[in-house]
Amino acid sequence: MNTEFLGKTLSGPFTIPSGIVTTTTPIIQYMFDHMPQIGVITTKSVGPEPRAGNREPVYSQYAPGCFVNAVGLTNPGARIAADAMAQLRIPEDRFLLVSIFGGSVAEFVEVAKIMAPVANGLELNLSCPHAKGYGMAMGQDPEMVKEVTAAVKAVVDIPVIPKLTPNTDNIADIALAAVAGGADGLCAINTVGPGYTSSHGEPVLSNGAGGMSGKGVLPIALKCVREIAAVTDVPIIGCGGVSSAADTREFINAGSTIVGVGSALTGMTTDDIGSYFNQLESDLSFGSDKAEAHIRYDIDMDFEPVVLVENKRVCEDICVLTFDRKINIQAGEFVFLWVPGVGEKPFSALSDDPFQLAVIDVGTFTHHLMDLAVGTEVYVRGPHGIAASPPEDAKIMAVAGGTGLAAVYQLARDFGNAEVFTGARTAERLYYLEECQKIAQVHVATDDGSQGFKGFVTELLRARLQEMSQAELDKLVFYNCGPSPMVHAAAAVQREFCRDDQIFSAIDYLTKCGVGICGACAAPDGQRICVDGPFLQGSPSRPEAS
Ligand SMILES: Cc1cc2nc3c(=O)[nH]c(=O)nc-3n(C[C@H](O)[C@H](O)[C@H](O)COP(=O)(O)OP(=O)(O)OC[C@H]3O[C@@H](n4cnc5c(N)ncnc54)[C@H](O)[C@@H]3O)c2cc1C
Ligand SMILES: Cc1cc2nc3c(=O)[nH]c(=O)nc-3n(C[C@H](O)[C@H](O)[C@H](O)COP(=O)(O)O)c2cc1C
Ligand code: FES
Repeated sequence: MNTEFLGKTLSGPFTIPSGIVTTTTPIIQYMFDHMPQIGVITTKSVGPEPRAGNREPVYSQYAPGCFVNAVGLTNPGARIAADAMAQLRIPEDRFLLVSIFGGSVAEFVEVAKIMAPVANGLELNLSCPHAKGYGMAMGQDPEMVKEVTAAVKAVVDIPVIPKLTPNTDNIADIALAAVAGGADGLCAINTVGPGYTSSHGEPVLSNGAGGMSGKGVLPIALKCVREIAAVTDVPIIGCGGVSSAADTREFINAGSTIVGVGSALTGMTTDDIGSYFNQLESDLSFGSDKAEAHIRYDIDMDFEPVVLVENKRVCEDICVLTFDRKINIQAGEFVFLWVPGVGEKPFSALSDDPFQLAVIDVGTFTHHLMDLAVGTEVYVRGPHGIAASPPEDAKIMAVAGGTGLAAVYQLARDFGNAEVFTGARTAERLYYLEECQKIAQVHVATDDGSQGFKGFVTELLRARLQEMSQAELDKLVFYNCGPSPMVHAAAAVQREFCRDDQIFSAIDYLTKCGVGICGACAAPDGQRICVDGPFLQGSPSRPEAS
């Protein structure tokens, strides 16, 4: 569906607004290569310096299709972002819109100069409602909007598109100020608010409040786009609460050239997003309204309480936590554990009944769990991710290092006919062996030989595979989980004997929202492990920063 936008003929009229899904270059490249409906790719907002952003929770659902977020402008800084984006292959009929932010006019100019060479256009984030000192305060002042726009226009020769805040009673004046500053187009709206969500009496977001997005903000977005279109004739990127073809038509009628679909993609796998935009395009062509059926209104981000009944220390930095109840989780899926005031982090369930976790101490949250007191109530959301589904006659070969056993024990238990390979530095770091032996043939390796085979678990694995006939090898399905070097080494051994489509690996990429929105968990091929995984085919390595 060709769309004219700022002098380019684009392959489609859609974008995914800044900060949602297309936040890293592997995901952006995948969308360029596979989703022509998304004519404009908008990047995560990039600032002058790297920002870690807020600790999790960063995204909260307050009603089906309605969200608040406080990601906190996480970004690697302009120089690293520009280097990563320079590697992108941008098709002729697509538009890379790089979103930038700064705390002052000078910072906007600095970032614009760095990003312009790798962009088709710059979006100015003048409207973030929850990151102090950035965005909204500037975006509410027409003079400031004009000054920033003019200053950026003066140093770049590509289109500049200020993104406006809905949190004002004079968006038309702000739009006029932006155009007076030289804006080539406008984007509206950024998130509304900030708003606040709570669960079990505690604020969900670690930031307390966050910007509201999704279905609930649609009427505000439509009002803003109408008011902007009434006073300017520059092209408008309209977004805020769009989920259906009917919404898209409303935005086009209101004056949008490009329509953004953001929060509505919550919970969708990469394939789901492809099917959704296909349907949306078809709806626009044929006057139907079927795309909304793809939206995951069933995504459950509520927190269920669980109470700790045992905290067993395996060694200095590993513990097994046992809770007072069963949770519903299938092999391969994962959950988030939330401790209000401390944060939330993803974990595989070592077992579902009773709910148990194996935890290794690597940082703030996991360190807190090492001494979590019996009787403490904490909260679980999920399950998230895709359950494993090996063929019925498959033999499972589960290869685990460290707490990776948590991701594979239930697999071996539920699908039967399994062998578990578990490795550790020393015998004292091994746990759950008796339970594993009840459900599978178990192979143990320790680096120092203090238990089982002396050496790496991958050597044990190779020896076992060498004993097998081709017919036996053809029936194997491997599930690898553990530290990245172990996973890659295991997959390399498996490839000596078997096909790539028999190998699945879970690498614990940094995970933030857990529902596919923030893009933090992108694998190098653009899959997001929280929705497309956690087990991905092969053994994807860690992506470069982007
Ligand atoms: C699907 C999934 C299942 C998981 N299952 C388990 C499990 O069963 N048991 C378990 O112990 N852990 C598991 N993890 C990993 C666990 O979520 C992280 O160790 C945890 O988020 C770290 O939080 P923290 O606050 O302790 O560390 P932070 O304070 O956030 O970080 C400490 C340091 O570790 C780095 N870091 C943090 N997380 C990661 C990461 N994922 N990859 C690489 N570096 C990282 C940080 O950059 C920092 O340098 C799983 C992760 C995923 C995605
Ligand atoms: C998780 C999340 C992160 C976001 N990050 C940014 C950002 O970095 N820059 C920006 O201009 N807008 C950001 N936004 C706002 C969106 O780009 C968009 O304007 C808003 O969500 C409304 O669209 P939607 O209702 O379709 O999600 C973010 C929104 C969400 C939900
Ligand atoms: S997309 Fe946010 S953690 Fe996966």
